[in-house]
Amino acid sequence: MRLIVADDYDGMSKLAADIVIAAVQERPASSILVATGNTPMGLYDLLATRQASGECDFSGVRAVQLDEYLGIGPEDPRSLFGWMRRSFVVPLAIPDAQVMRLRSDAADPDAACQEFAEAIRETGGIDIAILGLGPNGHLGFNEPPSAADAHTRVITLTPESAASSASYWGAGEDVPQQAMTVGMDILLEARLTIVVISGEHKRHILQQTLEGPVSSDLPASWLRTAENVVFIADRAAAGELALAEDATTQAG
Ligand code: F6R
Repeated sequence: MRLIVADDYDGMSKLAADIVIAAVQERPASSILVATGNTPMGLYDLLATRQASGECDFSGVRAVQLDEYLGIGPEDPRSLFGWMRRSFVVPLAIPDAQVMRLRSDAADPDAACQEFAEAIRETGGIDIAILGLGPNGHLGFNEPPSAADAHTRVITLTPESAASSASYWGAGEDVPQQAMTVGMDILLEARLTIVVISGEHKRHILQQTLEGPVSSDLPASWLRTAENVVFIADRAAAGELALAEDATTQAG
């Protein structure tokens, strides 16, 4: 596990973009698990800018959805699939045939979860997981408690995650109380995992993730048991961790 501390949000996004681009240059047909949320948006913008300048080419990658609210179709304004399309798939010109959608609007959501997990495995697993860190330590919607072998499944959101989701849409939209998420089992098998963390409000949970007990109560802490994981935090999120480690040095 590595921790890289950037001066600010833009620096965090750039460091993450450098790593993702290098990985895609090495393996142009990478399967990429794509988090939504606020934190990776600067990273995705940079990837699109750098693709436009000819530095990289994401047209061969497979974009795999990480999570979705239950019963929400792709056209719903709250859809995380819609958000992934707007921020990642379309700007990077990834063909629709190379996009894997979590069918949270399926008649049998449990079966849809199983099928999705099987499809990920059949296509060779995840090469690059791009993740954010939830305010309660969730990864995707693997809410606490989530064991390291938790499967792709339907979960009930914690009040904290529902509040965090509500902030994405402003007033007037109902926050779904349930969601689907790719499981911890698949996340922990990714060949490369990049977690982006920004802002003082993430400082405590990041510190607990990196230094507290490894436990189902803080699902992100399981990443410390996985191979090839890079946490990229801005200084506001890293706090004391930033003081202990000089900028852009590695920890752990
Ligand atoms: C979103 C997702 C969530 C977010 C996390 C952090 O697809 O999987 O786990 O990554 O809640 O969200 P932000 O970046 O908005 O703080």
